[in-house]
Formats: sequence, structure tokens, C-alpha cells
Amino acid sequence: MTMNNQNEASVTVFAPATVANLGPGFDILGLAIEGAGDEVTARRVSGATGVVIASIEGDGGVLPLDAASNTAGIAAAHVLKMAGVEARVELSIVKGMPMGSGMGSSAASAAAAAVATNLLVGSPLRKTALVEACVEAEAAVSGRHADNVAPAVLGGLIMVRRVEPLELIRLPVPDGLTVAVVTPHFELPTRQARAALPEAVSMGVMVRTMANVAAIVSACHTGDLALLGRSIHDEIVTPARAALIPGGQAAMDAALDAGALGSSISGAGPSIFALCRSPRSAQKAADAMIRAFKAAGLTCRPAIVSPAECSGARMISGTI
Ligand code: HSE
Repeated sequence: MTMNNQNEASVTVFAPATVANLGPGFDILGLAIEGAGDEVTARRVSGATGVVIASIEGDGGVLPLDAASNTAGIAAAHVLKMAGVEARVELSIVKGMPMGSGMGSSAASAAAAAVATNLLVGSPLRKTALVEACVEAEAAVSGRHADNVAPAVLGGLIMVRRVEPLELIRLPVPDGLTVAVVTPHFELPTRQARAALPEAVSMGVMVRTMANVAAIVSACHTGDLALLGRSIHDEIVTPARAALIPGGQAAMDAALDAGALGSSISGAGPSIFALCRSPRSAQKAADAMIRAFKAAGLTCRPAIVSPAECSGARMISGTI
């Protein structure tokens, strides 16, 4: 490729929203969904090496244009550094989901930027390395966790066995499993939601939490939906955060009453998710959750009903 062509190259990548934690799997379980996500265009331009952000749409002017403070910019810079590539990369970000909603907004931007930047410079990095670049971005804005960025990059249901060094395990998703996600108009920044967590838990609570996570993993392998549903139960993180979300506990209860297999807070909240046997059941759960939030005085965005097995970040256009 000539220098001139390099300077014209551009690639646009979409990365999906994600549901992290799945109840007891705090910081270790997450899955990609469809129906929301971010797009990032990476362009190779002339000038001093490094990453710059040209524009951000759909953020209401809230996100920083300074690349060193923005998850997309940080992830892209780490990709260049890890690949040993000296280039100037310009990013344009289109936010396709609300921020501070618990659907991995910062992770989707990081994932799309990392994948786009890697493609732009000839794909020198493997996908796990791209997740590592995204973890650095998450660490800078909310905390070092990979349960959003891993499924945002890789798709599907991913378990994070450890972050340093990164070890990811893909879990099978039972046929037909469907996710409903309802987002109330109420912002809960991840940093605040993480600050609300207890510093210590009792041995009994830890044992029950480990048992639920183990049961989720087993249920994914065997397709035992009833076991999966009753294992979406968390005594540590969910109660602490539900106290911050008006109508949050009522929405989870309403989803279960409407026939959902299990329900909990999506990521750091305030979105609530429900795992269901079918799209029809998920729509019923979503309607019930919206009614519960309404009773608590909160309106909601249109619900998302998505297969529990969805693709991760992918190129949607480009000239590379
Ligand atoms: N596991 C993270 C948390 C996800 O719950 O804080 C943030 O979306």
C-alpha cells in the first residue's frame, strides 16, 4: 500500500451493547446483545503520530473529545502501541446507546475503536489482544473489568477467568434463550455504582454466590433453563445497587412474575435484564418491567428483546 493510499484508508466498525454480571457473575460474565451499539470510523491521516477524535455524535456533548480521556481513544492508542505501529489515526464516534445505562456504552466505543484501528493498520493483533486494549480503556474510566469489553469484541457469552493476564472462556448459549433489557430514564454512572458495593462479604454469602455462578456455567452447557434462571441470584452487588435505582427491585420481581427465567441488574445499572425462553416471553417480561418502573415514577426507553447469542464487533464499511 502506498503512503497516499494509507492516508485515504478508513474503516467503520459496529460494536454491540452488552449485559454484564448476569446476577452473581460480577465482573466475570457478560453477553452481547443486538438492538443497540456504537459505530466508530478510524481514518489514517497525516500528521504527528497518535490518536485524535474528530467528532462524537449522539452523546449530547457529554463525552470528552480528548482522546486520552475517551475509551475509544484510549483503546485505539493501546492497539497502536501493542502493535508497534506509528501512525496518526482519527476517530469519529457515533453513540447508538445511552451512556450510564448499564449496557456497556463505554465498552462498545472502546471495542469498535480497537477493532477499527487494528483493521486500519493491517490486523496485526489477535482478538484477545484487542480485548486487552479495551480493558485499559475501561480501567481509565470506570474500573478494570472485561465483562463488557470481552463480549463486545468477541460476541456471545464470555466468562472472564482472570484479567491479568487475560483469560477468557466462551460459554455455550442454550437454544432460544432470549434477553429482555429495559432502561429507565435515570442515569447511574458506573463509577458511582461500583462505589456502592460492599468491601467485604460473609463466608456464607461468598459460598452461595460461587455456587450460583458454577450453576450458571453448568446450565449453559446442559441447556437446563430452569437451573439457569434460578441461579441468576445475587446477594452482594444487586441489592446494593437496587437501592440506588427507583423501581429496580420491583422491575426484577415483575419480570419473574411475568414468566422470566431470571432477572437482575444489567451491568452497573440502571437497566434491568431478564433471561427468557423465547422472544414472546421476553416481550412480556419487558412490558412488565416497564410497568414496574412507571409505578415508581420512571419512564423507560423502548425495550430491547434480543437473542442471548449475538455477534461481537464487526466492520460495516471501509476502504482498507
Ligand atoms: N461488571 C461491571 C460492574 C460492569 O458491574 O460494575 C459495568 O457495566
